[in-house]
Amino acid sequence: MTESRIRSAALRSKIVSAAEAAAMIPDGAHVGMSGFTGAGYPKAVPIALAERIAARHAAGEHFKIGVWTGASTAPELDGALAKADGIELRMPYQSDPNCRRRINEGQLDYIDIHLSHVAQYVWFGYFGKLDVAVVEVAGALEDGRLIPSSSVGNNKTWLDRADKIILEVNRWQNPALEGMHDIYYGTDLPPHRRPIPLLTTHDRIGQPYFFCDPAKVVAVVETDSPDRNSAFSPPDATSRAIAGNILEFLEHEVKKGRLPQGLLPLQSGVGNVANAVMDGLQHGPFENLTAFTEVLQDGMLNLIKSGKMDFASATALSLSPEAAEEFNRDVALYRKKVVLRPQEISNHPELIRRLGVIAMNGLIEADIYGNVNSTHVRGTSIMNGIGGSGDFARNAYLSIFMTPSTAKNGKISCIVPMVTHVDHTEHDVQVIVTEQGLADLRGLSPKRRAEAVIANCAHPSYRPALDDYFERALRESPGRHTPHILSEAFDVLTALEQDAEAEPRRVTAA
Ligand code: COA
Repeated sequence: MTESRIRSAALRSKIVSAAEAAAMIPDGAHVGMSGFTGAGYPKAVPIALAERIAARHAAGEHFKIGVWTGASTAPELDGALAKADGIELRMPYQSDPNCRRRINEGQLDYIDIHLSHVAQYVWFGYFGKLDVAVVEVAGALEDGRLIPSSSVGNNKTWLDRADKIILEVNRWQNPALEGMHDIYYGTDLPPHRRPIPLLTTHDRIGQPYFFCDPAKVVAVVETDSPDRNSAFSPPDATSRAIAGNILEFLEHEVKKGRLPQGLLPLQSGVGNVANAVMDGLQHGPFENLTAFTEVLQDGMLNLIKSGKMDFASATALSLSPEAAEEFNRDVALYRKKVVLRPQEISNHPELIRRLGVIAMNGLIEADIYGNVNSTHVRGTSIMNGIGGSGDFARNAYLSIFMTPSTAKNGKISCIVPMVTHVDHTEHDVQVIVTEQGLADLRGLSPKRRAEAVIANCAHPSYRPALDDYFERALRESPGRHTPHILSEAFDVLTALEQDAEAEPRRVTAA
């Protein structure tokens, strides 16, 4: 029943169609939308808005908006608005193919920022005024407080800062989500900030609901649609080998006394490789695991189900359709073991540092000295964005980056002489892992790091070219601390893009 989800009479009186709600968003508006890794994004208003934008464009009028979110959304939001050419500016993270194409064609401005920075930058006023919030919720209480849905992201900030609020109340979201969230309202601005009183992953320091000024709510739209929830590929031999290398390393760290037997809170990045690592932990020796992370993917859910993981703190559920079904079926179990928080808390640098998180994130390319590019293909085209990887990598107890050693069926080496774009500097990267092996860079000078990365992580078909470059850099580089032949580093990159079957080429100076 509709009424059971919107218990506030004031909000019920504002129920309209998606098209009517979309008509309340003007050209040029900054719109804060809910959504984090395909979870909890508005499903109806963005599509109606895209249709309206397309009609206005057909009439020769200008109509574009700024789209701010928690992180990536889904075809119904980023896809629809990008296809309609309705986005002027996008931030802070996306992974939609249409959106990506427009960004890389130079038709859409994109600000790729650390996810923990978004809320505070909006409060600081760095991005200007927030005109409209479009936020999906699972329901509303009599007094107008809102039950968050499958992601929290930046919704608290959007609801607080926007002039106008449009709510989508999604009946598909499990009503039992009520009580699973922990919304912390104590993040004051400098110079009045106080420490955040969260001491363990499972502490609750806020309340389960969003406050929302009913006077700002201009429309309520009812929906009944599932989250996007794309399925994960089953772990292949490469990702299983990466996971195996990480597990072996973690066991070694426990033996050395640098990690407790139950490890420290885990953060696992997005994507198939990250999911495979969680899968690997299922068969590993570690018990009583915890997570302090951004997204809870299938692999982590399985760890909770099997009893390997005691508790997970995240900001979003990013589950395949099967896992979402299972989550909804066994929600009573997961409610006790999962908390969803605003991303300014899930990704908070001070909490990550204090809890001693083990961060595991993917990369596009890593260089021999340990710098990591997580975002740009060939240094100029965006893939997704930095997401929370920087929040975690810089502040983690252990900062691990993982990747297959090659991309595009072996045609590109993911280990390169110098990254074409830097997201994580050599100072923030402690361990690099591929299916070939693991390079532990802690306590190593640049030259020793280069030896370890080439020997342990590079694919054998690219190792000779990398060795050759490094040896010549050792002889010819003007400075010998981080030896490079700058005029050549990028020629080597081109040479590393080759047919994996072909004889590795020796790269000579131009
Ligand atoms: N050159 C060109 N393309 C490359 C590449 C390289 N060196 N390395 C990877 N790619 C491509 C892959 O071919 C693949 O493309 P496809 O989808 O067309 O096949 C794509 O990048 C994804 O790579 P994959 O190996 O499947 O890894 P993944 O799913 O683990 O994703 C990242 C890797 C880096 C794209 C992903 O982890 C990411 O976006 N990271 C940044 C954000 C982040 O870390 N968030 C987590 C913080 S909590």
